[in-house]
Amino acid sequence: MSATELLLADAAGVARAARLIRAGEVVAFPTETVYGLGGLATDDRAVARIFEAKARPRFNPLICHFPSLTAAREFARFERDAERLAEEFWPGPLTLVLPPKPGSALSALATAGLPTMALRVPDHPIALALAKTVDAPLAGPSANPSGRASPTRADHVLSGLDGRISAVLDGGPCGVGIESTIVGFLPSPTLMRPGGLAPESIEACLGSPLALPDACGTTSAPGQMRSHYATRARLRLEATAPEPGELHLGFGTLEGDLNLSEAGDLVEAAANLFAHLHSLDGCGALQIAVAPIPDRGLGLAINDRLRRAAAPRPDRAGGRE
Ligand code: TXA
Ligand code: MG
Repeated sequence: MSATELLLADAAGVARAARLIRAGEVVAFPTETVYGLGGLATDDRAVARIFEAKARPRFNPLICHFPSLTAAREFARFERDAERLAEEFWPGPLTLVLPPKPGSALSALATAGLPTMALRVPDHPIALALAKTVDAPLAGPSANPSGRASPTRADHVLSGLDGRISAVLDGGPCGVGIESTIVGFLPSPTLMRPGGLAPESIEACLGSPLALPDACGTTSAPGQMRSHYATRARLRLEATAPEPGELHLGFGTLEGDLNLSEAGDLVEAAANLFAHLHSLDGCGALQIAVAPIPDRGLGLAINDRLRRAAAPRPDRAGGRE
């Protein structure tokens, strides 16, 4: 990719950023917490580009940004407590994890195959203007390379991602500087990540204490769960050819029943991963053989996700591999 454009956060800059995002590109934008790396949450390829730019070793689910509660309501079901928190704290540094509405057209890569999605309305005029102009859910993890601190100024973004993303909208320093507080409903309101909004304020609004994630951490960090994306069929990895009875997920010249990327392009493969696994699983095979994927670039995250999906599970029929 060529050099990253530095855009002034005026009307022309926001319009340019929105055009790039609508074309499937990735653009960093300011929020009140930290800079986000924005891409269309409805486009698997755009989401794959976000992971690629961050060199994230795992496909953690991403937060979707909306210009208003009204816009967010079109995508998720808000039960009573969620509605109360959104009314009180949005726009603001609070992310709610909720079930998406059927037919919400979100990329399976953005939600990492989970049955829930994370939403927030940021308290920042540039982020709100951008989300409004893009007019689709804006996926946005923090705009730093994986393993580095979250950026709170445009030059932090550039120091990590210059040349790896299309543009950065410079909105000056972020006010809050740490990421949003994440609350899920399991079903009681649960603090999934402490962040920019104090739990006490949330508890005062709810009139009851927040639950804490269970000790195994299974409810706090879905990206860490060993098999949170799991197929019904077993997976056999590094398979150059299918055995009798198996379906084959191909890559590059290993054609397969479905192919993650005939061109051997890891961005395309990441974008297709969840959708192709779903399709093959839907055919009812007992086992899916998966072609070898190179362990570099997005291939690291693809292999991490495949290994998690292939991990033995007690709930899988006959599954004592
Ligand atoms: O302040 C913020 O939240 C910033 C700005 C840019 O909005 N964003 C941010 O995104 O911190 P990120 O990707 O770095 O963190 C997203 C967190 C991850 O820890 C992820 O596990 C959690 O949100 N998350 C996303 N979807 C989830 C879901 N369905 N269930 C539980 N956790 C979820
Ligand atoms: Mg982050």
